[in-house]
Amino acid sequence: MADAAAPQAPAPARKVAVFFAPTRLFTANSAGCTAVVIDVLRATSSMVVALANGARAVFPAESVEHAMELRTSLDRERTLLCGERKGLPIDGFDLGNSPSEFSREAVADRQLIMTTTNGTQAFLAAQGADRVLAASFLNLGAVVDALAADSRIVVVCAGKEGSFSLDDAICAGQLVRRLLAAHGDAEVELDDAALAAERLAGELELAEETLGATAAGRALMEVGLGADLACCASVDKYAIVPALQDRAITVREN
Ligand code: MLT
Repeated sequence: MADAAAPQAPAPARKVAVFFAPTRLFTANSAGCTAVVIDVLRATSSMVVALANGARAVFPAESVEHAMELRTSLDRERTLLCGERKGLPIDGFDLGNSPSEFSREAVADRQLIMTTTNGTQAFLAAQGADRVLAASFLNLGAVVDALAADSRIVVVCAGKEGSFSLDDAICAGQLVRRLLAAHGDAEVELDDAALAAERLAGELELAEETLGATAAGRALMEVGLGADLACCASVDKYAIVPALQDRAITVREN
């Protein structure tokens, strides 16, 4: 029989799980969690740049058709269609999915409808969570700060067509490492995927070359968009935390 007086170790204040690709398992169990969506190459990197440059909102759309339909319900003058298929801009859209396209001149005071192969789908999979944040290397520190009070954190990597993508996994691992550094090992309980991501991030140096060696990075180079890698590899350039609410990803004013 257990000794009633035996001291018990306090339960960790926060649990962190990682999904290396969006799954129905998470979608069905997302209530009560804060989800952090990561698509380093390139959807969340581009969203961060767009919102930092004054875009009012990004609406994730699941398909080209859905994006066009959504535009009919929004102010035409202030709305841009953007995204990619096979990495390249979509015919008839205003912008592709390169972070450099989301300059202040192009996006300030505009709202964007974005459809991408994996990234925007990950937001749609995570939308049942209590909070849904967008992370990339570009805003990692700000996201870690914004998670200070969250007790159930689920990192949802966009992955590549339903499977593992190394760029997102490294970013997830860096996020886990920073949570451990901020709160202490005893305060953070990791699931096995979070532990694996943490170890991986400790092994691989984050650099443009590391991203370039991933399948997503090679695919970008093959279509002539290798210049995007340097931007997506820069860390903590922006202190913003995009969050999804009512179908729109925005940055809340303080
Ligand atoms: C995606 O959502 O799959 C991407 O961000 C792909 C890309 O930008 O090429």
